Amino acid sequence: RTFRIAAIPADGVGAEVVAAGRAVLDALAQSSGGAWTFDWTEFPWGCGYYEKTGRMMDEDGLKILEGFDAIYFGAVGWPSVPDHVSLWGLRLRICQNFDQWANVRPVHFHPGVTSPLRKADDTALDWVVVRENSEGEYAGLGGRNLSGRGPGNEVALQTSLFTERGCERIIRFAFDLARTRPRRKVSSVTKSNAQQYGMVLWDEVFARVAEDYPDVETESVLVDAMSAKFVLHPEELSVVVASNLNADILSDLGSALAGSLGLAASANLNPQRRFPSMFEPVHGSAPDIAGLGLANPIGAIGSAALMLDHFGLADEAARVRKAIERTTASGVLTRDVGGTAGTDEVVAAVIEHLA
Ligand code: NAI
Ligand code: MG
Repeated sequence: RTFRIAAIPADGVGAEVVAAGRAVLDALAQSSGGAWTFDWTEFPWGCGYYEKTGRMMDEDGLKILEGFDAIYFGAVGWPSVPDHVSLWGLRLRICQNFDQWANVRPVHFHPGVTSPLRKADDTALDWVVVRENSEGEYAGLGGRNLSGRGPGNEVALQTSLFTERGCERIIRFAFDLARTRPRRKVSSVTKSNAQQYGMVLWDEVFARVAEDYPDVETESVLVDAMSAKFVLHPEELSVVVASNLNADILSDLGSALAGSLGLAASANLNPQRRFPSMFEPVHGSAPDIAGLGLANPIGAIGSAALMLDHFGLADEAARVRKAIERTTASGVLTRDVGGTAGTDEVVAAVIEHLA
């Protein structure tokens, strides 16, 4: 069959890493002997598009995207456009409108990559951050200039939204995921000692849902303590479920602990499959290295593997992961992980190791 994929490279290194992921998937498809193919359509949306049109994406962009099997995304953001405008105008717009309420972000060691954490045991870091991706702190609720008293006295309000349904579905998702992993454990993260409404609701829903999964170990940890735990006791974690903001921060910490932000993959899932899901590296547009051929493509290629999983091509996803592993083990590494290779060399090595 043919999988129709919308590619949105957007800004900065987004273009380089999306091209990398496409090259790997196309090589993979070629070796499938025609059993399945990828049909790519690339969209020019992003900050450059905004400068020309005043919009981050086509007016009917969501309608166009709706017909695809998946969206493969680079990164959005460029110094010429305020970050909240670019992020809300494209990435968050897609996530929210396509109800991609589960953001899955696996973190693990890569052979050959030195982690600031690396201990003798390579399995010490192997977890998945499950991020609530539709509400919480990124619900977009609030306003500016609420005092009405002008400069110097401005009051701004940013409200978090926690619904019982929203909490329950992401927590159940985390438990179901934990059942597929070698260690059946879910760690729930909040700051419910200080945030006494929404996060207390989250904790209560977590405790209730946990009763349906007696075979899964659980813990509830405050986010400040959890960030320490990421560093000090990573071996105790398997699935970590948290609200939008907390999980966003924790997953950057996690990918840095694995060795680089450039390694981390993610999937924004609409688990009911009513809308397309979106696959993207965790990192941003990296303006400091954009266009230089230095970007680490592993996060984007790993995200392509998550897309293969979503298509039901589990063996092919495993092949891509194996090829990534062989590549890093062989020492073909970009600068962010201590090597000297360019993006293209890493891509070539991954493709070679697909065989
Ligand atoms: P960033 O992730 O772009 O960069 C942080 C650091 O990591 C930089 O030193 C960068 O060079 C390095 N880095 C990132 N990706 C890399 C890769 N693939 N290979 C090697 N090194 C890599 O985060 P920053 O600088 O905070 O944000 C830059 C722009 O990206 C902003 O406009 C921000 O809003 C946007 N952004 C977009 C995201 C998205 O589209 N999902 C996520 C995070 C930030
Ligand atoms: Mg982030």
